[in-house]
Amino acid sequence: MQHDIKDIISKMTLEEKAGMCSGFDFWHFKGVERLGVPSIMVSDGPHGLRKQDESGDHLGINDSIKAVCFPPAVLSACSFDSELMEAFGDRIGIEAQATDLAVVLGPGVNMKRSPLCGRNFEYFSEDPYLAGMIGTAFIKGVQKHNIGTSIKHFAANNQELNRMTCSSDVDERTMREIYLPAFEKAVREARPYTVMCSYNKVNGTFASENEWLLTKVLRDEWGFEGMVMSDWGAVNERVPGLAAGLEVEMPASGGVTDAEIAAAVREGKLDEAVLDRAVGRILKLVFNYAENREDHDLDLEGDHEFAKKVAEESMVLLKNDGILPLGKDEKVLFVGEYAVNPRYQGGGSSHINSFKVTNALSTAEKFGNVTYVKGFSGQDDVYEEDLAREALEAAAKADKVVIFAGLPDSFESEGYDRNHMDMPSCQNRLISEIAAVNSNVAVVLHNGAPVTLPWLGEVRGLLEAYLGGQAGGEAVAEILYGKVNPSGKLAETWPVKLSDNPSYLNFGDRKKVEYHEGIFIGYRYYDKKEMAVNFPFGYGLSYTDFEYSNLRTDKAAMTDGGCITVSVDVTNTGDRAGKESVQFYVADKTGGDVQRPVRELKGFGKVSLEPGETKTVSAVLDDRAFSWYSVELGDWYAFPGEYEIAAGASSRDIRLTTTVRYETSRCLPVEITYNSTVGDLLKNPVTAPLGKFVADKMNHFFGIGEDDDSEAINDAMAEAIAASQPLRSVVNFGILTRDELDAEIAKFNN
Ligand code: BGC
Repeated sequence: MQHDIKDIISKMTLEEKAGMCSGFDFWHFKGVERLGVPSIMVSDGPHGLRKQDESGDHLGINDSIKAVCFPPAVLSACSFDSELMEAFGDRIGIEAQATDLAVVLGPGVNMKRSPLCGRNFEYFSEDPYLAGMIGTAFIKGVQKHNIGTSIKHFAANNQELNRMTCSSDVDERTMREIYLPAFEKAVREARPYTVMCSYNKVNGTFASENEWLLTKVLRDEWGFEGMVMSDWGAVNERVPGLAAGLEVEMPASGGVTDAEIAAAVREGKLDEAVLDRAVGRILKLVFNYAENREDHDLDLEGDHEFAKKVAEESMVLLKNDGILPLGKDEKVLFVGEYAVNPRYQGGGSSHINSFKVTNALSTAEKFGNVTYVKGFSGQDDVYEEDLAREALEAAAKADKVVIFAGLPDSFESEGYDRNHMDMPSCQNRLISEIAAVNSNVAVVLHNGAPVTLPWLGEVRGLLEAYLGGQAGGEAVAEILYGKVNPSGKLAETWPVKLSDNPSYLNFGDRKKVEYHEGIFIGYRYYDKKEMAVNFPFGYGLSYTDFEYSNLRTDKAAMTDGGCITVSVDVTNTGDRAGKESVQFYVADKTGGDVQRPVRELKGFGKVSLEPGETKTVSAVLDDRAFSWYSVELGDWYAFPGEYEIAAGASSRDIRLTTTVRYETSRCLPVEITYNSTVGDLLKNPVTAPLGKFVADKMNHFFGIGEDDDSEAINDAMAEAIAASQPLRSVVNFGILTRDELDAEIAKFNN
């Protein structure tokens, strides 16, 4: 039955309408029984359901129903596979229908600004394009089942310290190019039913009452038609929040803020139409769910298998000096508790009560000759002599040793940030000691963010399992034994050390964090600085090799509003089947007068190839792929000229490049004043004649360029001096009168 929302709103009392604007309890929206409005339930998310039956909390303290823990975002993003992510969302949507959940709270598309953020494991990437593509695909999958998503945390929520009060101070260009695009892409292309505003302030105003964010950008510019809910406890002032565009406050406020809304309407401080509009948006969500129920059973075992597949497609082989894959007859020793008791998810609101967890050891036992010693505990940082001795003795006798290392739960979680990038020192020490008694060592890491790798040169192999979800252990064993050929690529750069990170000097301030590095986060910074990194963005090895050829575009030139298709052929030149994620980067070679990254990811595609097989990977680049955000223009802009398009196996392994021209008739706005410089005017084709006019006058006056024998002034100096002259110089030196200069300027300002 279709419900008439307008009619229902007209029958609601003021109190009922105000009541709709906050939760009934931790996880439910309020219903209005007499009008047939049901109460719907929402739940975390996003990499599995955390549906709580009894005691509710948003910190992962109390148990939830048994569910499947799929790989968290830190790992699934490394799949570089939109189709897989859509299928992942599809599973979550079915699970939600089967368990009567209307909205799954996620995905989280915040940028990984610093490796220290405690919640990085819940976020996809340091790159807005990748996070946007992966997040969009996931949302499409979930919402196919008329289950809502809540893309979060909107916006610039990049640290946990004082997350409920701290301000993220970000200039507009950086906001538009780095911190908003993943949200923008998802909103425009996947139409999430809800957006969750973040806890923090954005440029001094709480996200939950930030009209610029919630209304101007989200609705007016991007066309968002869903509803905004607050993060749990993120509301500062309820009435201004509602006016700014926050429809639902979560969780329940015990009626306090509902009464404030009703009073504000009664006192004429809040237009009732604003409240009605909010209620309309909420009811649209409620009835969309209620009217589109699907009949599904929970398929926990089937979803476990799918979780394994996502893990297999995403784990990243970071180093392999021929030690992997392991052979079935080799005597292999597994060391480290994570081999039997993996760390596979992070702490906090996304914590899933897994119905089962499988491990690498029991899977590997099916494939080869494996023994296990604990070596160290995965839960603390204590070097235990007995365990270490046992591990060293066993290691000396093994053909190969695989050490299962990583970060204990207490090292990273929602709610706080790390203060260093190191693994427990007991683990670092034992890895080096084992490498000293056996030269065939590989390490498997379990962690939610990059760590320092003091022993990297001492081991022959490194597999990044990140947090693998409940089936991650099986995926690790399959990859170690070559049953699965690894194909994940890093969705973030691994710096050598923490102080290399661009946010190092201004991360983790308590009241206000100034994003001084601007658009240069992640590889955008490391590449610009030509800095050595442990592993670059987009990097990941395979057991086979891929060759790239025939990079081409379907057009030689690009124009505003147009698009261009770039394609490259990839051949599997090894002797095993494998998958390759090809990345397309765009580099601005126009020499336009703005700082731009060396290159930026603007397309990717993953292909599966049998030995000897060749396939084409393509991506469509629209004008946004070439543009930067001009605050003066209030819009995206691409300078006319040449752009390089690169096909790479990572951001630093560029295999082929080609160039295209960008043609535009648009210009950046310029306001000409007495202090506009000749150099600036010359750079803009529209104002260049004025710049030249003034430069000629000045040069003539000073005799520059007329006396070739002058030793006091060389050509470069003459040019620089002319370029730095403000227009008023012609008046200062009595070359033109004020009226004459005004007349010249007027020709252009008009
Ligand atoms: C988290 C959200 C989560 C919510 C509900 C908050 O603490 O920041 O990501 O969805 O709790 O559990």
